[in-house]
Amino acid sequence: MEFSMIFIVSNIMLLLSSASAKTASPPSLSPTPAPAPAPDFVNLTDLLSVAGPFHTFLGYLESTKVIDTFQNQANNTEEGITIFVPKDNAFTSAKKSALSKLTSDQIKQVILFHALPHFYSLSDFKNLSETSSTPTFAGGDYTLNFSDISGTVQISSGWSKTKVSSAVHATDPVAIYQVDKVLLPEAIFGTNIPPAPAPAPTPDVAPAADSPTEHSADSKASSPSSTPDGSSSYKLISYGIWANLVLATFGVLVLF
Ligand SMILES: *[C@@H]1O[C@H](CO)[C@@H](O)[C@H](O)[C@H]1NC(C)=O
Ligand SMILES: *[C@@H]1O[C@H](CO)[C@@H](O)[C@H](O)[C@H]1NC(C)=O
Ligand SMILES: *[C@@H]1O[C@H](CO)[C@@H](O)[C@H](O)[C@H]1NC(C)=O
Ligand SMILES: *[C@@H]1O[C@H](CO)[C@@H](O)[C@H](O)[C@H]1NC(C)=O
Repeated sequence: MEFSMIFIVSNIMLLLSSASAKTASPPSLSPTPAPAPAPDFVNLTDLLSVAGPFHTFLGYLESTKVIDTFQNQANNTEEGITIFVPKDNAFTSAKKSALSKLTSDQIKQVILFHALPHFYSLSDFKNLSETSSTPTFAGGDYTLNFSDISGTVQISSGWSKTKVSSAVHATDPVAIYQVDKVLLPEAIFGTNIPPAPAPAPTPDVAPAADSPTEHSADSKASSPSSTPDGSSSYKLISYGIWANLVLATFGVLVLF
């Protein structure tokens, strides 16, 4: 008898605690003090020299003085900045020869092409994909197209198609995202895209994504498998409560 009482009491406690954990957590957020405003100054040089390795890109930023343009945007504007940073090994790929033939003005344009004069969080790119061509710091025809494929941000410059592979920093006003390739602007290299170094040894893109048909992209986007994770975890919580209810009821039955 005593054992059943303990069983019931403990089950009711469990039930109450899981129910209160669920209902009490949102209000408990409000009394906590608002997070202190993020420090205004983000040292881009410092960030890029410790993350990465991004030494090649940082070297170009410094030799072209574009670092000052970007740092000024980060320091002094409400708009903020979004920078796409290729890793060092992106520069050692076949495309590097493309850069070596450029004038210093063109190199500067290529580096400016790697940033947008606005802070974008990763989820903001869903909106951009609808508006297509997005202006970069290089201005004019130097635009990038974004699309969001199953939560991965894809970037197209005409010459380069790549994706955001990680977020280095993403706190307003400064976003820095690592990309797999150097972004080569159509405005410099033209629309006459050369025979790609086709037997690319790194299969960094899933075969399905290579398919040029819009049809496959559509079917992918409308696939029901892309349901948000939130609903399943909610179901788990509900299941836990139900399990406790069943156990408690069982305890009551044993008691009588
Ligand atoms: C930014 O960081 C770099 C590298 O750590 C350092 O040399 C430079 O002095 C810093 N700039 C400012 C303004 O703090
Ligand atoms: C950015 O702000 C830092 C700290 O206030 C300052 O040292 C640096 O010179 C500024 N850089 C630019 C380009 O405005
Ligand atoms: C993106 O679109 C959503 C819904 O259309 C909107 O609520 C949100 O404010 C937009 N974000 C930006 C950065 O424009
Ligand atoms: C970007 O999108 C625009 C409008 O859909 C299109 O005309 C242009 O060719 C695209 N550019 C690239 C580089 O994909």
